[in-house]
Amino acid sequence: MSKTIVVPIDGSECALEALDFAAELVRSEDDKIILLTVVGHKKVPKELQHYLEVEHVKGPPDWEYDQLIASGILDEGKQRLQEHNIHQFETLVERGEPAELIATAANQQAADMIVIGSRGLGNISGLVFGSVSGKVNHLAGCKVITVN
Ligand SMILES: Nc1ncnc2c1ncn2[C@@H]1O[C@H](COP(=O)(O)OP(=O)(O)O)[C@@H](O)[C@H]1O
Ligand SMILES: [Mg+2]
Repeated sequence: MSKTIVVPIDGSECALEALDFAAELVRSEDDKIILLTVVGHKKVPKELQHYLEVEHVKGPPDWEYDQLIASGILDEGKQRLQEHNIHQFETLVERGEPAELIATAANQQAADMIVIGSRGLGNISGLVFGSVSGKVNHLAGCKVITVN
Protein backbone atom coordinates (compact mmCIF):
# COMPACT_ATOMS: atom_id res chain seq x y z
CA MET A 1 0.00 0.00 0.00
CA SER A 2 1.28 3.43 -0.87
CA LYS A 3 1.88 5.98 1.85
CA THR A 4 1.87 9.72 2.24
CA ILE A 5 4.33 11.21 4.73
CA VAL A 6 4.14 14.82 5.85
CA VAL A 7 7.50 16.25 6.89
CA PRO A 8 7.31 19.69 8.50
CA ILE A 9 10.54 21.63 8.12
CA ASP A 10 11.59 24.94 9.67
CA GLY A 11 15.12 25.41 8.36
CA SER A 12 16.70 23.54 11.30
CA GLU A 13 19.18 20.66 11.02
CA CYS A 14 16.92 18.50 13.18
CA ALA A 15 14.06 18.88 10.70
CA LEU A 16 16.40 17.83 7.89
CA GLU A 17 17.40 14.78 9.90
CA ALA A 18 13.71 13.93 10.21
CA LEU A 19 13.53 14.29 6.44
CA ASP A 20 16.46 11.86 6.04
CA PHE A 21 14.51 9.37 8.13
CA ALA A 22 11.31 9.91 6.12
CA ALA A 23 13.31 9.35 2.93
CA GLU A 24 14.35 5.94 4.26
CA LEU A 25 10.67 5.05 4.67
CA VAL A 26 9.94 5.62 0.99
CA ARG A 27 9.75 2.23 -0.63
CA SER A 28 7.66 2.49 -3.77
CA GLU A 29 7.04 4.93 -6.60
CA ASP A 30 3.58 5.52 -5.18
CA ASP A 31 4.86 6.72 -1.81
CA LYS A 32 4.91 10.45 -1.47
CA ILE A 33 6.57 12.99 0.82
CA ILE A 34 4.91 16.32 1.48
CA LEU A 35 7.37 18.97 2.59
CA LEU A 36 5.55 21.51 4.70
CA THR A 37 6.74 24.76 6.15
CA VAL A 38 4.65 27.12 8.23
CA VAL A 39 5.54 30.76 8.15
CA GLY A 40 4.72 33.24 10.87
CA HIS A 41 1.52 35.16 10.84
CA LYS A 42 1.91 38.67 12.11
CA LYS A 43 -1.35 40.39 12.86
CA VAL A 44 -2.00 43.55 10.91
CA PRO A 45 -3.41 46.59 12.77
CA LYS A 46 -6.98 47.51 11.81
CA GLU A 47 -6.06 50.87 10.27
CA LEU A 48 -3.43 49.27 8.10
CA GLN A 49 -5.86 46.52 7.10
CA HIS A 50 -8.31 49.18 5.91
CA TYR A 51 -5.59 50.96 3.93
CA LEU A 52 -4.58 47.69 2.31
CA GLU A 53 -8.16 46.97 1.30
CA VAL A 54 -8.52 50.43 -0.25
CA GLU A 55 -5.24 49.96 -2.12
CA HIS A 56 -6.29 46.45 -3.15
CA VAL A 57 -3.21 44.89 -1.62
CA LYS A 58 -3.98 41.24 -1.11
CA GLY A 59 -2.82 39.68 2.13
CA PRO A 60 -0.69 41.09 4.92
CA PRO A 61 2.25 43.35 3.91
CA ASP A 62 4.92 40.84 4.87
CA TRP A 63 3.44 38.04 2.77
CA GLU A 64 6.12 38.30 0.10
CA TYR A 65 8.84 38.25 2.71
CA ASP A 66 7.35 35.13 4.28
CA GLN A 67 7.06 33.50 0.85
CA LEU A 68 10.76 34.10 0.30
CA ILE A 69 11.64 32.51 3.60
CA ALA A 70 9.37 29.57 2.86
CA SER A 71 10.90 28.90 -0.54
CA GLY A 72 14.41 29.02 0.97
CA ILE A 73 13.44 26.41 3.56
CA LEU A 74 11.64 24.23 1.02
CA ASP A 75 14.56 24.41 -1.44
CA GLU A 76 16.84 23.04 1.25
CA GLY A 77 14.40 20.17 1.80
CA LYS A 78 14.10 19.45 -1.93
CA GLN A 79 17.86 19.31 -2.24
CA ARG A 80 18.03 16.85 0.62
CA LEU A 81 15.45 14.62 -1.05
CA GLN A 82 17.35 14.73 -4.31
CA GLU A 83 20.39 13.40 -2.45
CA HIS A 84 18.20 10.43 -1.52
CA ASN A 85 17.12 10.15 -5.15
CA ILE A 86 13.53 10.83 -4.21
CA HIS A 87 11.53 12.79 -6.73
CA GLN A 88 7.97 12.06 -5.68
CA PHE A 89 7.33 14.96 -3.33
CA GLU A 90 5.11 17.98 -3.04
CA THR A 91 5.64 21.23 -1.19
CA LEU A 92 3.19 23.14 0.93
CA VAL A 93 3.35 26.54 2.61
CA GLU A 94 0.97 27.45 5.40
CA ARG A 95 0.73 30.64 7.35
CA GLY A 96 -0.17 30.81 11.02
CA GLU A 97 0.21 28.65 14.10
CA PRO A 98 2.70 25.89 13.17
CA ALA A 99 1.50 22.90 15.24
CA GLU A 100 -2.18 23.36 14.39
CA LEU A 101 -1.47 23.84 10.71
CA ILE A 102 0.84 20.82 10.57
CA ALA A 103 -1.87 18.63 12.10
CA THR A 104 -4.58 20.09 9.85
CA ALA A 105 -2.49 19.75 6.70
CA ALA A 106 -1.76 16.10 7.50
CA ASN A 107 -5.49 15.53 7.86
CA GLN A 108 -6.34 17.29 4.63
CA GLN A 109 -3.66 15.37 2.74
CA ALA A 110 -4.92 12.11 4.27
CA ALA A 111 -1.34 11.50 5.41
CA ASP A 112 -0.41 8.17 6.95
CA MET A 113 2.17 9.78 9.18
CA ILE A 114 4.01 12.90 10.17
CA VAL A 115 7.78 12.67 10.57
CA ILE A 116 8.95 15.62 12.62
CA GLY A 117 12.18 16.76 14.28
CA SER A 118 12.20 16.71 18.07
CA ARG A 119 13.81 20.15 18.16
CA GLY A 120 13.92 23.06 15.81
CA LEU A 121 15.32 26.53 15.56
CA GLY A 122 14.52 27.44 19.15
CA ASN A 123 16.66 24.68 20.61
CA ILE A 124 16.62 25.64 24.28
CA SER A 125 18.97 23.05 25.78
CA GLY A 126 17.57 20.72 28.39
CA LEU A 127 14.24 20.21 26.69
CA VAL A 128 13.60 16.95 24.86
CA PHE A 129 10.76 18.26 22.73
CA GLY A 130 10.22 21.66 21.24
CA SER A 131 6.84 23.32 21.55
CA VAL A 132 5.83 22.50 17.99
CA SER A 133 6.83 18.83 18.05
CA GLY A 134 5.20 18.35 21.45
CA LYS A 135 1.95 19.92 20.29
CA VAL A 136 1.87 18.03 17.00
CA ASN A 137 2.14 14.79 18.96
CA HIS A 138 -1.03 15.79 20.81
CA LEU A 139 -3.01 17.22 17.92
CA ALA A 140 -2.27 14.88 15.04
CA GLY A 141 -4.89 12.43 13.85
CA CYS A 142 -2.26 10.13 12.34
CA LYS A 143 0.97 8.47 13.45
CA VAL A 144 3.74 10.85 14.46
CA ILE A 145 7.38 9.84 14.37
CA THR A 146 9.63 12.23 16.25
CA VAL A 147 13.26 12.14 15.19
CA ASN A 148 16.10 13.30 17.39
N1 LIG B 1 7.27 26.70 11.38
C1 LIG B 1 7.44 25.40 11.19
N2 LIG B 1 7.09 24.84 10.00
C2 LIG B 1 7.26 23.51 9.79
N3 LIG B 1 7.79 22.69 10.70
C3 LIG B 1 8.15 23.18 11.89
C4 LIG B 1 8.00 24.56 12.21
N4 LIG B 1 8.45 24.75 13.47
C5 LIG B 1 8.87 23.55 13.91
N5 LIG B 1 8.70 22.59 12.97
C6 LIG B 1 8.99 21.16 13.08
O1 LIG B 1 9.01 20.82 14.46
C7 LIG B 1 10.29 20.33 14.82
C8 LIG B 1 10.58 20.76 16.25
O2 LIG B 1 10.64 22.17 16.32
P1 LIG B 1 10.15 22.97 17.59
O3 LIG B 1 9.13 22.17 18.31
O4 LIG B 1 9.77 24.34 17.13
O5 LIG B 1 11.46 23.01 18.50
P2 LIG B 1 12.27 24.27 19.07
O6 LIG B 1 11.54 24.70 20.28
O7 LIG B 1 13.62 23.70 19.33
O8 LIG B 1 12.26 25.31 17.99
C9 LIG B 1 11.25 20.83 13.76
O9 LIG B 1 12.40 20.00 13.62
C10 LIG B 1 10.36 20.77 12.53
O10 LIG B 1 10.30 19.42 12.07
MG1 LIG C 1 10.70 26.18 16.88
